[in-house]
Amino acid sequence: PTYRIASIPGDGIGVEVLPQGEIVLRAAAERYGFTLRFDRFEFASCDYYLAHGRMLPEDWKEQIGAHDALFFGAVGWPQTVPDHVSLWGSLVQFRREFDQYVSLRPVKLMPGVDAPLKTARDIDFVIVRENTEGEYSQVGGRMFSGTEREIVTQETVMTRVGVDRILRYAFELATRRGTPHVTSATKSNGISITMPYWDERAAAMAAEHPDVAFDKFHIDNLAAQFVLRPDHFDVVVASNLFGDILSDLGPALSGTIGIAPSANINPERRFPSLFEPVHGSAPDIAGKGIANPVGQIWAASMLLDHLGERDAAAAVLRAVEEVLADPAVRTPDLGGTATTETCGRAIADAVR
Ligand code: NAI
Ligand code: MG
Repeated sequence: PTYRIASIPGDGIGVEVLPQGEIVLRAAAERYGFTLRFDRFEFASCDYYLAHGRMLPEDWKEQIGAHDALFFGAVGWPQTVPDHVSLWGSLVQFRREFDQYVSLRPVKLMPGVDAPLKTARDIDFVIVRENTEGEYSQVGGRMFSGTEREIVTQETVMTRVGVDRILRYAFELATRRGTPHVTSATKSNGISITMPYWDERAAAMAAEHPDVAFDKFHIDNLAAQFVLRPDHFDVVVASNLFGDILSDLGPALSGTIGIAPSANINPERRFPSLFEPVHGSAPDIAGKGIANPVGQIWAASMLLDHLGERDAAAAVLRAVEEVLADPAVRTPDLGGTATTETCGRAIADAVR
């Protein structure tokens, strides 16, 4: 088969790490017998904004909407464009307009990475975050603004469709991973209307999947359990806000931000899904050629998995682990002296 990939490097180190993801993808395609066609897009960057007064062209959906996947670097250059403008004008548009309602973040302790905690043995789980509704709603407002009677509200919105589809995704993912265990994040002891609803739907979904072990934790305790016994978790499913918080805590447990990947997925494939490193454009190291390309390359593995190229996806992840185990090809954030290119090339070679 032939897959069309829209490559969007963005800003800063996005421009440096994205090509390393591409060479690894090409190596995987060669080895596993499929074809990738990359189209490069310069929008969704602050340079584009400075030239055009906007982050995206009018017809961006037509330009990238028919691709099989979006491969994204990082966006943001606060010295020239405020972050809320660059982020909301690009990534947030992709997520919303392409209904990427699953945010996926694998958390895995890799060789060569010093975990910050003593408890960090055998960490290998995935966080599944609801990405379109929940606590991040537009419903609410201010009354009596600026007076002593000021009232501010913001409603959490949970729909049956929205809650069920994220829970179903989590249970099916657990089944596919061969580690059939789902943990749900709740807070039904404090948030007494929406969270009991979430729990009810989670229990219904668990009943439909009797082969998947199921448990739930209140979010405060769950955060503590991430730190105390991270090896307990396999698939963790959470609402938008809880998932947002866990998605930073998880990767922090497993070491450096330079290796963590993320996917924003539209499981029905009505729209393309987006694969990116967790990190941003890192202005402090941009242009030096020393950014760690592993986050981008791990995102490439997730992209291949989404395309259905499971063997290729697994091979890329194996290559990452193999190369990280070798101190000679680690970038400075992992205590090494290798460049972005050296590390990327070593992983591509390992895939071949
Ligand atoms: P950042 O992730 O860009 O950098 C945080 C720290 O981690 C920096 O010290 C950086 O040098 C280091 N770092 C990040 N990626 C690395 C890599 N691959 N290798 C080695 N070191 C790495 O976060 P920061 O500084 O808060 O944000 C910078 C810009 O990026 C801002 O404009 C922000 O809005 C944007 N951003 C964009 C994201 C995205 O495109 N998804 C995500 C996070 C931030
Ligand atoms: Mg966050």
